[in-house]
Amino acid sequence: MRLRVSAGPRSATYMVEIRRGLLADVGAMVRGKWKIDRVFVLTNTTVHAHWYAALNKALADAGIRCYPMVIGDGERYKNVAVYHRIIGRLAEEHADRQSLLLTLGGGVIGDLGGFVAATYMRGIDLVHVPTTLVAQIDSSIGGKTAIDHARAKNMIGCFYHPRRVLTDPDVLATLPKREFRNGLFEAIKIGLVCNPELHAFIQLGLDKIRGGNKRRIFQMVSRCVREKVKVVDRDPCDRGFRAILNFGHTFGHALETSADYRGLGHGEAVGWGMLLALRLSEHLGYCAGAHVQESYAMIRHLLPQKKRIGENAGRLWQTMLHDKKAVDGRVNFILLKSIGKPIKITVTRRMFNKALDTL
Ligand code: NAD
Ligand code: GLY
Repeated sequence: MRLRVSAGPRSATYMVEIRRGLLADVGAMVRGKWKIDRVFVLTNTTVHAHWYAALNKALADAGIRCYPMVIGDGERYKNVAVYHRIIGRLAEEHADRQSLLLTLGGGVIGDLGGFVAATYMRGIDLVHVPTTLVAQIDSSIGGKTAIDHARAKNMIGCFYHPRRVLTDPDVLATLPKREFRNGLFEAIKIGLVCNPELHAFIQLGLDKIRGGNKRRIFQMVSRCVREKVKVVDRDPCDRGFRAILNFGHTFGHALETSADYRGLGHGEAVGWGMLLALRLSEHLGYCAGAHVQESYAMIRHLLPQKKRIGENAGRLWQTMLHDKKAVDGRVNFILLKSIGKPIKITVTRRMFNKALDTL
């Protein structure tokens, strides 16, 4: 599947290509667009072990040499020091304005590599080859680049669009189950806020998707990307509409930053956030019925049994109040009028407590 993203000016228009087995053709695809004989590849140790050889071969077959830049695995490497080191490596290798940076990895590598490409010599061409479900359906599309600061995650960054996104869903086969599940929560989110048919597709095919059925996973990735592209096309710089993608993230973020829930993964936190948003949508009379109950049950089923979420309601509320989504002692939430119809609502502490009690 090929999709065009039109993110503002013409220079920010790019193709997202999704195909099973595409990794083997990356060299030919790069050769078709760039007259270069060397590509800088940013990846991490884990992804390098799984997929670098295949990428290197694909590029070598097209007469392109790889210059690998391999960093450690984890969010903690998405920082200024690592950024600085990569810029130094590019300079030592005499990378110039015509050079191409290719990211091979998940959202961490994509965000960091995007920021490197945006800022090295005021911008060099960038290609994403996303290798996690989160990166394939979300972070590789839409041009958000970032590195973390000691004060906050993603504090430093800019919008900078890749020239191509080359997605091979088959590389997800080596992804640890927990990482796959993180992406599944984001896929469910996209279905819930964007498209009831996509939501039903995920719900009906959940067992096959979780069982690793490659055809189903390809279809899910393609359909999620189609929806994400529509949102980005409508609001490329995240000025308003794109906030619908924060469904589940307001409460999810509060859980993630709360010491009481240490160990909760990002996807799981978003899962709990979606449950809370569904309860709020019901209690406020926006959205009810069997389909909401079914969605709730599906998300709850994917979450591991944990100690009761929300024992520290006061602390979680305060965390959300300090977040930028708070206005006059109320917190902005994305809720649902129905599946595929999101709505932004400010929520009071009383409404929040009630929803939390019914999780
Ligand atoms: P990640 O990049 O840390 O990858 C998760 C884990 O999977 C890592 O251990 C990684 O080494 C491993 N991995 C990646 N591909 C693999 C493969 N094919 N086989 C085996 N292991 C593999 O995490 P993520 O969930 O992909 O991304 C999270 C990051 O993305 C965060 O930093 C977040 O802020 C950012 N993000 C950005 C956007 C955006 O719009 N730019 C959107 C969502 C998330
Ligand atoms: N991941 C949310 C966004 O792209 O806006």
